[in-house]
Amino acid sequence: MYTVAIIGAGFISTRKHLPAWLRLRRRVKVVAVCDLDRTRAEAVSRQFGIPAAYDDVNQMLARERPDFVDVCTPPSTHADIAVAALKAGSNALIEKPMATTVQECERIIEAERASKGRVEVAHTELFHPQVIEARKRIERGDVGRLTGMRIFYSTPVTLWTTDPGHFANRLPGGSIGETGPHVVYLSQAFIGPIREVRVRGRKILPEYPWSPFEDYRLELMGDRVSSSIVLTYTSKHSAFLLELWGAEGIMKVDMQSKMLVNYHRVNQSPWGIGLSAVSEAAQIASGAFANGFEYLAGRFRNIHDRTVSEFFKRSVNGLPPAVTSQDGLETVRVMSAISEQLQSQAEPMDSPLPQRPEQRERP
Ligand SMILES: NC(=O)c1ccc[n+]([C@@H]2O[C@H](COP(=O)([O-])OP(=O)(O)OC[C@H]3O[C@@H](n4cnc5c(N)ncnc54)[C@H](O)[C@@H]3O)[C@@H](O)[C@H]2O)c1
Repeated sequence: MYTVAIIGAGFISTRKHLPAWLRLRRRVKVVAVCDLDRTRAEAVSRQFGIPAAYDDVNQMLARERPDFVDVCTPPSTHADIAVAALKAGSNALIEKPMATTVQECERIIEAERASKGRVEVAHTELFHPQVIEARKRIERGDVGRLTGMRIFYSTPVTLWTTDPGHFANRLPGGSIGETGPHVVYLSQAFIGPIREVRVRGRKILPEYPWSPFEDYRLELMGDRVSSSIVLTYTSKHSAFLLELWGAEGIMKVDMQSKMLVNYHRVNQSPWGIGLSAVSEAAQIASGAFANGFEYLAGRFRNIHDRTVSEFFKRSVNGLPPAVTSQDGLETVRVMSAISEQLQSQAEPMDSPLPQRPEQRERP
């Protein structure tokens, strides 16, 4: 039987990672939970039936010597914890982002090279079956050569924008530091290495002065193709939509309702447009039915389940990680360029357009 220790007993650990590890109970035992907040660690250990609770990572590593460590703490702590885990001989799954700077990622990679353990970064959105399917279809040439992509991501304002104490409001560049890694690694998965970044942040909600921006427009330029992204933290609604297009077709993925819709509209007559709309509606209806059936049949597995079980299986079978430490570093490199640009934006709009002649004040 293998052993795993969970570090961090907050949101993602209790909602997703711990349940995912417990589903693997036939092969791996959760032996400890560790959180700086001892009361929280003890409460989570009682709630999930985990034998030991700690408030000190090094003490936990020395006593438990776990085969696996799952790092579910805020990004600024990832490097120290992952390096300590690797030095103790554990394999480390690290929640995204791998760390907050490229230097921290390099420190983790050095420790990984010097150890017998491995690192995987939880780039969870890559484990969506629809993302996997979209990647397959692009490789197969279903939309022709990929010529562009777009992402719209709305995080409900109540998740942390309203909370002055949440770590996301203190990340470099603000909230984008928390959800931005998802859109960066998704873009990298489709368009390859990012060569250039343009970002514009806007402060929309003055009632939350601790949040630097709540609206981000992001352009990521790959070698051949670009990804355009809108990240908003202003609505009570959540949305995560991805569009990919090539000469032969367009694919639309709703990451939350788990739908992949093929969009074909080469014929622009009313009939052509009508038929393409009917085809989209039919794909949505059949997708909703299939997803509903999977859920009711108890076969639904969320992306964190998939991330944790892939990490575990690949590690014990000696297969390469699905997301390597180098992939994690590349995402952090782009995130660092984004936050640098945002930090240099002193004014919300630094180059206003000249006024039209009729708007100018008359003498
Ligand atoms: N993949 C996803 O969809 C997803 C979603 C949410 C969060 N995350 C990531 O998960 C990580 C944690 O986020 P969260 O929302 O669960 O945060 P959280 O604030 O809810 O929980 C973090 C916990 O870590 C503890 N902690 C902080 N420093 C520690 C240390 N040095 N040692 C031990 N415990 C420590 C805190 O006391 C807290 O209980 C972040 O990297 C975040 O970006 C990923």
